[in-house]
Amino acid sequence: KTIHILNGPNLNLLGKRQPEIYGADTLADVEALCAAEAAAHDLDIVFAQSNHEGEIVELIHEAREAADAIIINPAAYTHTSVAILDALNAFDGPVIELHISQVHKREAFRHHSYVSLRADAVMAGFGVNGYRLAVAHLASLLA
Ligand code: DQA
Repeated sequence: KTIHILNGPNLNLLGKRQPEIYGADTLADVEALCAAEAAAHDLDIVFAQSNHEGEIVELIHEAREAADAIIINPAAYTHTSVAILDALNAFDGPVIELHISQVHKREAFRHHSYVSLRADAVMAGFGVNGYRLAVAHLASLLA
C-alpha cells in the first residue's frame, strides 16, 4: 500500500522558518522520518511539497490513481483553499490533515480549516512527530 504525504507553501523552509513554532527539523528530516516509519509497516510513500495551490490540486489528482491514503499539511492554504478541499473530495481513501503547530492556540484565522470538512482525522501540535504518528495510524487502518 502507498501513502502520499503532501506539504503546502513555505514548508520547504522547515527548520529555518520560525523554529520556535515549527522546530529545527528540515523537510528532508521529516521525509526520512516518514520513510523509516513506512518501511517498518511495509508501506511505500510518495513525499511532495509545493508552494503553489494548483500544483497541490494536481498532486491530489495524482493520488487518486496512485495512493491508498493521503497525509496533507496544506499549510496556509488550509485556511483559504476551496480548490484543495474540492480535490480531496474527489479522492476516495482516508485523508489525514496535519499541522505541526497547535493551530487552535494561535491566531483566530488559523482556527478554521476548509480541509477539515473532508479530513477523516486531524492532527495539530504534535510537531514533526505527527507525521510519524499519522503514518503509523494509516498502517493499522490499511492493514
Ligand atoms: C501549519 C499551520 C498553518 O496555519 C500555517 O500557515 C503553516 C503551517 C502547521 O504545520 O502548523 O504554514 O500548517
